[in-house]
Amino acid sequence: MFDFAGKKVFITGGTRGIGLAVAIKMARSGADVALNYLRNKKAADEAADKLKSISGKAPLLLKGNVAKDEDIDEMFKILRDKWNGSMNFLISNAASGVLKPSKELTYHHWTWTMDINAYALLALSRQAIPMMKGNGRIVAVSSLGATHAFSNYAAVGASKAALESLVRHLCIEYAEHGINVNAVSASAVDTEALTHFPNRDAMLEESKRYMPAKKLVETEDVADGVVILCSDMARMVHGHTFIIDGGLSVKLPG
Ligand SMILES: NC(=O)c1ccc[n+]([C@@H]2O[C@H](COP(=O)([O-])OP(=O)(O)OC[C@H]3O[C@@H](n4cnc5c(N)ncnc54)[C@H](OP(=O)(O)O)[C@@H]3O)[C@@H](O)[C@H]2O)c1
Repeated sequence: MFDFAGKKVFITGGTRGIGLAVAIKMARSGADVALNYLRNKKAADEAADKLKSISGKAPLLLKGNVAKDEDIDEMFKILRDKWNGSMNFLISNAASGVLKPSKELTYHHWTWTMDINAYALLALSRQAIPMMKGNGRIVAVSSLGATHAFSNYAAVGASKAALESLVRHLCIEYAEHGINVNAVSASAVDTEALTHFPNRDAMLEESKRYMPAKKLVETEDVADGVVILCSDMARMVHGHTFIIDGGLSVKLPG
């Protein structure tokens, strides 16, 4: 649908789930893709093979923890070198976090979750923005936990609220410099991430039952939101959180 030939996109956590769905759409649209991951080399290699079969171009694979400045420095050294110092789109998608009731959350759980889910956007943007040279898009991937409450989600929800706030603050600093900073937020999507939720089955069942659209959001639905925000159609969209949830978040019981 969109032509991103010649565009360079860096997707954190791009080797599985929602990040991989974004990568596939970007590759189909002709973009050069770099994928970050943390540990799962097998999934990264499979993602690389998949993208190569789509576009004929092997993506760059960058292993590193987005919560660590030194890992981000290393990844950006490679990106600047391989891409001659330029980048068009940064998709800050990698996330993790401790899923526990608030009374069990420690300071370590809190900072670990915040660093991966919120600080990473700040650290990644600092390096990506100079490469965008006055024409770029940053999209952060958030969740409904930023604005709504779910069991075991206190730390992750708070980190996603911080992330969405950071999106708005980056937006006002960079809009006049040709950089659009936005977020996509989604309700539950059945990826591997959900296997870490103690209440996974109930969560998916309830989402489907209460959702006005009556079906779960899929990785492709979220990826479409990301791609739209990177397209020229969204040129005047700044500081926005694009909610993809089949209407779930606007529904009251009854
Ligand atoms: N699934 C949902 O229900 C849902 C709903 C709304 C929003 N989201 C958001 O969507 C995004 C993607 O979620 P997902 O469900 O697609 O996740 P996923 O399937 O678990 O994939 C996570 C990806 O992030 C990477 N990753 C994890 N921690 C990292 C770190 N510290 N540094 C670098 N890479 C890291 C993983 O690498 P390895 O393969 O090496 O582990 C993997 O590539 C997240 O921001 C999440 O909060 C998810």
